[in-house]
Amino acid sequence: MFKDPAHKIESNVRSYVRSYPIVIKQAQGSIITDEDGNKYLDFLGGAGALNYGHNNPKIKSHLIEYLQFDGIIHSLDMASHAKLDFLNTFNNKILMPRGLNYKVQFTSPTGTNAVEAALKLARKVTGRTGVISFTNGYHGMTLGALAVTGNKYHRQGIPGVESTHVTFMPYCRYVDGLDSSIDFLRYKLEDDSSGVDLPAAVIVETVQGEGGINVATTQWLKNLRELCNEFGVLLIVDDIQAGCGRTGDFFSFEASGIVPDIVTLSKSIGAYGLPLALVLIKPELDQWKPAEHNGTFRGHNLAFVAADKAIQYFWSDDKFSESVKRKEVFLRQRLEDLANKYPEADFDVRGRGLMYGIEAKANENIAMALQKICFKNGLIIETAGSHGQVLKFLMPLTISDAELERGLDIVEASCEQALIEVSQKKIANAK
Ligand SMILES: Cc1ncc(COP(=O)(O)O)c(C=O)c1O
Repeated sequence: MFKDPAHKIESNVRSYVRSYPIVIKQAQGSIITDEDGNKYLDFLGGAGALNYGHNNPKIKSHLIEYLQFDGIIHSLDMASHAKLDFLNTFNNKILMPRGLNYKVQFTSPTGTNAVEAALKLARKVTGRTGVISFTNGYHGMTLGALAVTGNKYHRQGIPGVESTHVTFMPYCRYVDGLDSSIDFLRYKLEDDSSGVDLPAAVIVETVQGEGGINVATTQWLKNLRELCNEFGVLLIVDDIQAGCGRTGDFFSFEASGIVPDIVTLSKSIGAYGLPLALVLIKPELDQWKPAEHNGTFRGHNLAFVAADKAIQYFWSDDKFSESVKRKEVFLRQRLEDLANKYPEADFDVRGRGLMYGIEAKANENIAMALQKICFKNGLIIETAGSHGQVLKFLMPLTISDAELERGLDIVEASCEQALIEVSQKKIANAK
């Protein structure tokens, strides 16, 4: 029986170690090795922070070189070669080819701080306080980001954390099959008596990650963009989990053709699991005064080096993006085959790129059981959704075809046992 060696000293708040009771020694690509030499396939991908895999060799050599050269590591927000290289590469290879014109703000290196900055800026620029967020949205754990996060467990366990000035609207297809929630929002904004005053911003994930892999349709996103234009409301796309290639394109909103006013990025922008977060701001909205959203760790030079090299290696042409889209076809087919093989689970398969979920509509405990059995069988995979009812696939984008297939074989081989365990538990509970 595994006993977390940190349990006496580390806070009760730790969570992933409870699902994956191992002590990790090494990691390379899509493989994690524990202290006993057991190897696990990683379909968790650092919750989206490891799009280029663990210790990507293409990036590693540059980090070692930078360290050996005594390149500056901590420089607050002063200019450094590492920062300037990253900014130039990001502008030349990511923004300009997509016709995007954004200023880049570095925030403290967590996603939640990028969200805080985005919300603060939207309020400052518009002079309004309200924000529209969506059901099952997840934006982080600090007070402002938490206020726009739907999940009750995270939000309501702490007295005083309330979604003040936030209105939650139904996400795309939140009400089964209904895609018209933007019309509902329009009615509310047009009606003086709806109780919803004109907000500063709408914050949205194009694919909800923690909320259970809910995918907004292109039309829904276009309608949302149009609505924001109509009412002069700023559109913030939180691309912290779905960005950096996860859906196949660098930005998750590219496929829909919309251009957000503000974009948040974190997780895989640091490219090597190194902490980095930024906010992209339409130039006319960059109304910050110096130091108005300050922080000691805004831009980490090692992360700049990794991010710069990752963009150069993976985003100089379409090959990487095409490989993600090709792998998606295989992933979707395998998950649909699984759904057909186990009709009794009533699996709903959904996602984009290499960001997928399967939700067993028959019983919300199936995903959790599957996660546990997969782990015993050598696959690290997590669940998402308000009750952990969705098995979530978030493997490194660099995963090999063979590893992808092997991981999916493990899921398939674990499914029967998960269904048996859940139905036995149901019978036991009924007695
Ligand atoms: C969409 C989204 N926004 C914000 C965050 C918060 O990022 P962090 O955990 O780095 O604060 C997350 C984290 O999962 C996320 O998925």
